[in-house]
Amino acid sequence: MLNNKKIALLGSGTMGKTIVGGLLKSGKVKPAQLRATTRRAATAESFSRDQGVACSTDNAEVAAWADIVILCVKPKDIPKVLQDLQAKGALKHKPLLISIAAGVSTAFLEDASGGACPVLRAMPNTPCSIGRGMTVVAKGSHAGDAHVALAKEIFSPLGRFLELEEKHMDTVTGLSASGPAFMYIIIEALADGGVMRGLPRNVAIELAAQMTLGAAEMVLATGKHPAALKDDVTTPAGCTIAGILALEDGRIRSVLARTVELASKVAGELGK
Ligand SMILES: NC(=O)c1ccc[n+]([C@@H]2O[C@H](COP(=O)([O-])OP(=O)(O)OC[C@H]3O[C@@H](n4cnc5c(N)ncnc54)[C@H](OP(=O)(O)O)[C@@H]3O)[C@@H](O)[C@H]2O)c1
Repeated sequence: MLNNKKIALLGSGTMGKTIVGGLLKSGKVKPAQLRATTRRAATAESFSRDQGVACSTDNAEVAAWADIVILCVKPKDIPKVLQDLQAKGALKHKPLLISIAAGVSTAFLEDASGGACPVLRAMPNTPCSIGRGMTVVAKGSHAGDAHVALAKEIFSPLGRFLELEEKHMDTVTGLSASGPAFMYIIIEALADGGVMRGLPRNVAIELAAQMTLGAAEMVLATGKHPAALKDDVTTPAGCTIAGILALEDGRIRSVLARTVELASKVAGELGK
């Protein structure tokens, strides 16, 4: 379905590059099907050079060309970008509008784009850049299953894809979009433990990262509850239960759960 679809990315920073890089790597789209924008001419130039995709600073021209417009600017920049597109009639052809901005509702996006475009709210994460990401999509009031199917084609090559109701999107942001940063801290801390015990830093990081990857894949591949998988590792009177008790003394569960709760609340305030 993406065959011959023209896709615009307005805003081409970390996430714009992630999506363009993932799409090109997947072979699902050709560079000529993509156009991007940035705020500054210098970043547009380096994006074009690095990604091999046309990039300019003219949002209206690029949006008017596209069948699908992906908004990848910061939440605070969404209102003025949509206002500019509206004023210049760049959405008259009613492209599918996909916003990845944290905390910006489909109702706001519909209103700010003149109410005619089908709108999807998507939340990818940075591991999309290596095809191991997670993207969740929610439909706006004028979007249908065919629009979700198009979004699935765009984001599936970048990792897993799920459709949820919009009420969950701030929580998705706090869990799977902010989550990689939380996991990097955990991986670094686990590696610190190895370094404290004499492992070289690079070895400790490799061990911690590969172990995290394997544990995560066990959860997804087996479908077992994480508690059951934990029990499989935990021999009575062994070293793992000793470590687990240290984690519980540090209130690891409530710290992590509260981390996601707080990040989700802040995500909900970003679009206001
Ligand atoms: N980072 C994440 O992990 C993540 C995950 C999921 C969703 N998101 C969402 O993705 C969006 C982008 O985040 P990011 O981390 O990619 O931000 P970023 O790296 O700061 O990139 C923002 C991009 O927007 C461009 N820009 C700013 N104003 C513009 C305008 N008026 N017209 C066109 N382009 C404009 C910037 O261009 P210049 O560089 O020239 O200023 C830059 O290319 C945010 O809404 C965020 O909520 C981020």
